[in-house]
Amino acid sequence: MCGIIGYIGEESAATILLNGLKRLEYRGYDSAGMCTIDQSKIQIKKGVGKVDEIHKKLNLTNLSGNIGIAHTRWATHGKVTIANAHPHTSCKEDIAIVHNGTIENYQELKEILIKDGHNFKSETDSEVIAHLIEKFYLEYKDEEKAVLTVANMLKGAFAFAAIFQKNPNILIGVRKDSPLVIGIGKDGYFLASDILAFIDHTDRAIFLDNQEIAIVSRKGVKILTFNGLEVNKSITQVAWEVSDVSKKEFKHFTLKEIKEQVYTVRAALNQDLNKIDEFCNKIKNAKRIYVVACGTSYHAGLMAKHLFNKLAKIYIEPIIASEFLHYGDLTDGGSVIIAISQSGETADVLNVVREARKQGLKVFAIVNSVSSSLVRESDLSLFINCGPEIGVAATKSFTSQLVIIYLLALKLAGLSIEDSGLLKLSKYVREVLKLEDEIQKISLKYYNNGDFYYVGRGPHFPIALEGALKLKELAYIHAEGMPAGELKHGTLALINDGTPVVVLNPYDETYFETLGNAAEMKARGAKIIGVSDRMNEIYDDFIHLPTVNKLLYPIIEVIPLQLLAYYITIARKQDPDYPRNLAKSVTVK
Ligand code: F6R
Repeated sequence: MCGIIGYIGEESAATILLNGLKRLEYRGYDSAGMCTIDQSKIQIKKGVGKVDEIHKKLNLTNLSGNIGIAHTRWATHGKVTIANAHPHTSCKEDIAIVHNGTIENYQELKEILIKDGHNFKSETDSEVIAHLIEKFYLEYKDEEKAVLTVANMLKGAFAFAAIFQKNPNILIGVRKDSPLVIGIGKDGYFLASDILAFIDHTDRAIFLDNQEIAIVSRKGVKILTFNGLEVNKSITQVAWEVSDVSKKEFKHFTLKEIKEQVYTVRAALNQDLNKIDEFCNKIKNAKRIYVVACGTSYHAGLMAKHLFNKLAKIYIEPIIASEFLHYGDLTDGGSVIIAISQSGETADVLNVVREARKQGLKVFAIVNSVSSSLVRESDLSLFINCGPEIGVAATKSFTSQLVIIYLLALKLAGLSIEDSGLLKLSKYVREVLKLEDEIQKISLKYYNNGDFYYVGRGPHFPIALEGALKLKELAYIHAEGMPAGELKHGTLALINDGTPVVVLNPYDETYFETLGNAAEMKARGAKIIGVSDRMNEIYDDFIHLPTVNKLLYPIIEVIPLQLLAYYITIARKQDPDYPRNLAKSVTVK
């Protein structure tokens, strides 16, 4: 995880880096730092906390100079301390680096460096990069050669940027399995984990591929492979829309993104139908179809399993990406992978994709970020088109993923989109959002509870999982989602007087059985929060959803659960946009 940014040009580096850091905070926000070179001296400021807090304390923008690098951290190796925050420097503090990813062989390298007399100041894996560059820079007296040597020594997934006090005219970036993109501005160049970091300055970008190094000066960019061969790369014009990352009138990105679903479910329908056909044809003929994804995207995968099977009689196997290589058999040929990911940068997903492709499998992606590694490494990608999702908890990306899954299921089953009701989805979402005040009232009754349960049957089970995940990650409350019928096989023992249970109970074929389960829980003291299109006296609290085509219902059913988690979080005085310990893009395995 972590976000890195570098700048070289005519402007004040610190101001550009500070704005970039704020844009990259979704990648990690436990500490941050930056350094610039001015009057032949590297100057560093770093601290613990969010970028704004650190800036308030240290005034980051009074670092002078027009070359610099910066970092926002999500700790992997070493606690959240100032010493472990980036940038890290060489012994003489004349080389500085920022790093995203993990260096798997850092212990072995550190031992060698310590024997060579290097002094380490942090507990991070990243610091070895600065010392290794120092070692080879001393030997070769050449920045490019030193970094190339180091890049080839490091194991793991990483992107890093380095600057040299002795040569303030050069910024070097290295990419292996973690994203790094170069921005080409009018008065300078940028290097960053994500175009969002520099989109205010330029929409022209070069995406580095794996095992590439960029040597960036004020005059231009040279790109080498890890073998030292120079490569020509094309410049991509990035869509400006990605820069729309303001909160507008909303207090939090999370609430803004929940509300945006009125529009994003419609944008997801905006698909090239030839591509949908191609996607379906490719998977239809496969011997086995695996869906790989994590977290919320995995819940979308569970919905795909349900819909593809129910509508089109196509059986797919969703597997949590980090488990896949311990489970799935890629060697039998004829399998395909569907990878679902909002960011397209989730390391666990990319790991499976890379292994699958090595073994000759085709990979099809359902993804939000059009410029992500997943898109570049897949055979075909469908875009969910929901715009940047900044709130760490996935909200609008989930409903957009579901829309695409519905489109695919309908196509696979030969059913028409018009008859499905999908075109009216936006209107239903608008209706559900009107329940906001009622949901806030319910949140005030339950926000002090330590445990929540979410239950549902059939397609409502993945929604129960998603509702529980939202509550856990935003409000820090223990929550479990489970099939309604499964509760009595053990978990019922945990139901006490007052335990809130959110019962997803639309008036469909699951209604009476789920109601029976709700009665069992109520008999043991549970408080039942019914989410349904039909009222029942059994509910202690009721969220009344509109009656819609039963196929579509799960898409609107998740929205009150997102709102409930949001308002419980607010009642608990936590920040929903930046939950503790998490990051938006999980780029480490
Ligand atoms: C939950 C959440 C995470 C992500 C997961 C996968 O709200 O945001 O569980 O869904 O980390 O991320 P992507 O979809 O970017 O691969």
